[in-house]
Amino acid sequence: MPSHLPDSGFHYAAPFYDKLAKLVYGSALQQAQLALFPFLPQQGRVLIIGGGSGWILEQLTHTGKKLDILYLDAAPAMLKLAQAKYKKLHQQHNCSVAFRLGTEQKIESQEQFDVIITPFLLDLFPPQRLHQLMSKLKHALPPDGLWLVADFWPVLQHPPLWQRALVWAMYTFFGAISSVQAKQLPDYAFHFKKLNLTEKYSRSFYGGMVQAKVFVNCPQNPYI
Ligand SMILES: C[S@@+](CC[C@H](N)C(=O)[O-])C[C@H]1O[C@@H](n2cnc3c(N)ncnc32)[C@H](O)[C@@H]1O
Repeated sequence: MPSHLPDSGFHYAAPFYDKLAKLVYGSALQQAQLALFPFLPQQGRVLIIGGGSGWILEQLTHTGKKLDILYLDAAPAMLKLAQAKYKKLHQQHNCSVAFRLGTEQKIESQEQFDVIITPFLLDLFPPQRLHQLMSKLKHALPPDGLWLVADFWPVLQHPPLWQRALVWAMYTFFGAISSVQAKQLPDYAFHFKKLNLTEKYSRSFYGGMVQAKVFVNCPQNPYI
């Protein structure tokens, strides 16, 4: 792993990550991300952070929407795959994409996005680090901006054994090969609530183990 680059542990997983995800989850992880597309504006600035090998970019170009996308990923090999995939697109589209290597720390303090997409990113971090990352992202979201999430987020408070076993297997495997720091799924709802983000849509996939959710950045209530 390029040890000087923070959170770049997926660098070596890049060549097989998509195949492995498909083998285990079929198309569920992609379906969860596609379910979020109707919430994208016809035109706007979008941040995709942790998009991985870039599958999502090709899909976005099919929407016909005029999106100005910042594609930010911490793993050099993932970003390279995404860039190559994007370069190979032949059909006409209205999106423009800027690729940036790094973590949320690479978002400039004045940068703002109408929509932020975190596809299977938030599950990687232990609580304190997650709060730090989410606070930084919230700072880049204007009032009424949307945050689109797809993640391993069990619907049930006490998920069935097969889901718990799968979660354990993922953290054990990616903890070892990608230095994922988290050991269990975060309390996402707590973190979104803490940042005053309000849920406006939710749909579940893969027997309730995966959810796609849309949050809106509520303007601060001046009376609180
Ligand atoms: C589990 S993979 C998900 C990839 C893709 N979204 C998908 O669903 O196939 C997580 C991705 O987030 C990236 N990542 C991890 N930490 C990050 C951070 N702090 N900032 C930006 N990207 C990060 C990894 O390099 C990896 O590409």
